[in-house]
Amino acid sequence: MRPLPARAALIAVTCLVAGSAPAASQDYYADIRPILVENCVRCHSDDGIAWSMEDAESAYERSARIARAVSNQQMPPWLAEPGHQDYVGDLSLDEATLAVVRDWAAADFPKGDPRPDPAPPMMHHAAFAPDLSLDVLPDDGYLPDQSASDEYRCFIVDWSADESGYVTGFRAVPGNRNVAHHVVVHAVDPAMVDRFRELDAEEDGAGYRCFGGALPDRLGDRAVRAAYEERYPDGVRELDRSNFWLAHWAPGMDGHVFPEGTGIRVEPGTGLVVQMHYYSSTAPGEKDVDTRLDFMVAETVERPAFHLAQTRGDWLASKRSGTMVIPSGTKQTFEMADDLGNLVGYIAYLTQVPQDRIQALEIHSANLHMHSFGHSGEITLTHDTGRVETLLSVPRWDLGWQRDFTFTAPKLIDREALEGTRLGVRCTFENDTDDTVYGGYGSMEEMCFNFSYIAVQEAPATDPPTEGRK
Ligand code: HEC
Repeated sequence: MRPLPARAALIAVTCLVAGSAPAASQDYYADIRPILVENCVRCHSDDGIAWSMEDAESAYERSARIARAVSNQQMPPWLAEPGHQDYVGDLSLDEATLAVVRDWAAADFPKGDPRPDPAPPMMHHAAFAPDLSLDVLPDDGYLPDQSASDEYRCFIVDWSADESGYVTGFRAVPGNRNVAHHVVVHAVDPAMVDRFRELDAEEDGAGYRCFGGALPDRLGDRAVRAAYEERYPDGVRELDRSNFWLAHWAPGMDGHVFPEGTGIRVEPGTGLVVQMHYYSSTAPGEKDVDTRLDFMVAETVERPAFHLAQTRGDWLASKRSGTMVIPSGTKQTFEMADDLGNLVGYIAYLTQVPQDRIQALEIHSANLHMHSFGHSGEITLTHDTGRVETLLSVPRWDLGWQRDFTFTAPKLIDREALEGTRLGVRCTFENDTDDTVYGGYGSMEEMCFNFSYIAVQEAPATDPPTEGRK
């Protein structure tokens, strides 16, 4: 982006004060249109998830709204506060670009002379080559709930590979981008897939209503949860523990290749719970059809990875534990942290790297998760030296734009430093209803999670020498 001369900002301020239209330094066709093509049209297109900006003239009619959404940093949607980390695929606009838009708005949106649009940015990830494609929906598709403006719906899909392998890349191909807003894929332990299927079968229509994760929303109802736990004592927590965040797709992403040399192990018989976030109000009566997931799968990887899910079990125990309580009209903050040294056994189990061969961990991402009362939150890494690093700060939470925030350079923690290194999540909630909000799985309950993609550097086996592995 062309840097804005400091003088231009000054002029804009002066003109605002004087209230007269200045000789414009920025105009729509020359300066603003390239910003829209570069940063907005990937979603705001004729077949995109938001109103189309493809036609330059009709987009110009919405100049004021565009400038407002950009200035208050509502658009492009990117929850991470700048200044803490460099992230892969960062959608946010730099200061110079923001200044160009503000200057243009201050000058009362000069239009300039029409000219052809610049070429849109390349969206396709050249390295993405799928090995496995899975259909998500029934043959006749799915009509999102027409009585609500949006809906979170989960569909169970069989992981059809016969052998264990590592997922090294992912892409969702939504069948109808007018209604599909967001896809999150959770992998369910083979032993627990039937439990999920049973819950699915008990709910009308294809799939089931889910909200924050893979569990049915209706388990948030205390009576339903109690009835379920009569059948399966501790059943809700078992469901929760038996699935992990595998991958996600958000508008503006194409194929996502996991960091070079890493992948997440998936066993045959695994079930995938595919959570679709639908917008029905923007496309009434339209079905989603043929939505598909593409995976890159490798037999082995150099550095096996997993998604660490961090929360406190007692927060999720609803009213019973009383540790996550957000009284009506209050703002409350909750936080937890794991000492990475305590997780070595668990990491060995997840990745199948023997404990004594775990040489270092690479933390690649952070991902804050709350429900609709979420206000703001942070993920921090406290090094064994005491240095505290903010991995992710989300000043204004919005569930609709949740995603992995992947660092351009992973955080490398040596084995010796694991003990004393703490990864933590802090969530602030604001309850503006008349009722107390508790922790739990339902859409009217709250949760506080971090998911981090972590890869393991494995020490070479020394004694006896093994063959066939590099
Ligand atoms: C990742 C997809 C995505 C990108 C990129 C994106 N938008 Fe949006 N935009 C949306 C969606 C979806 C909506 C509908 C409302 C919502 O979900 O917030 C929206 C809504 C809007 C609105 C209406 C907000 C209002 O209520 O007034 C404006 C204006 C807007 N976008 C402008 C932009 C501009 C300008 C850019 C680029 C600088 C941009 N958007 C980039 C997805 C996107």
